[in-house]
Amino acid sequence: MVCLGNICRSPLAEGIMQHQAAANGLNWEVDSAGTGNWHVGEGPDRRSTRAARSHGIDISKQVCRQFKVSDFDHFDHIFVMDKNNLSDVLSLARNEHDTQKVKLLLGDKVVPDPYYDDNQFEPVFELIEGGCKDIIRDLVN
Ligand code: 4NP
Repeated sequence: MVCLGNICRSPLAEGIMQHQAAANGLNWEVDSAGTGNWHVGEGPDRRSTRAARSHGIDISKQVCRQFKVSDFDHFDHIFVMDKNNLSDVLSLARNEHDTQKVKLLLGDKVVPDPYYDDNQFEPVFELIEGGCKDIIRDLVN
């Protein structure tokens, strides 16, 4: 799960996907990262932590890290939140195999950056929740 800062959207996506995978009996490794490095080593934005907690998901222990090329080797799928994330991650792809792993989490829509609007965290949670549900349905069936 990849966004720009790895403090707002992708930590939610990591927590939600881990939660849904476990609920579906799937032993998936789910992680998140940012394309940028400003917040490396920090925990998630408190507004994301609060939104997740209100849905029974604890993301407070996550630690921000930057996306790295070896993530292409370690993960089967790389889901990004918006089109800037898409082009930033694709610019690091070494070959077609890497490129094919990268998709928008919502398929043809973007998860907007909630950083500058406190009221966007709950809608963003719900968007990501729906996206994760669709991904599990598509990957499992
Ligand atoms: P995120 O939101 O990409 O969903 O984690 C952002 C958080 C911080 C910044 C940008 C986006 N920032 O520029 O610091």
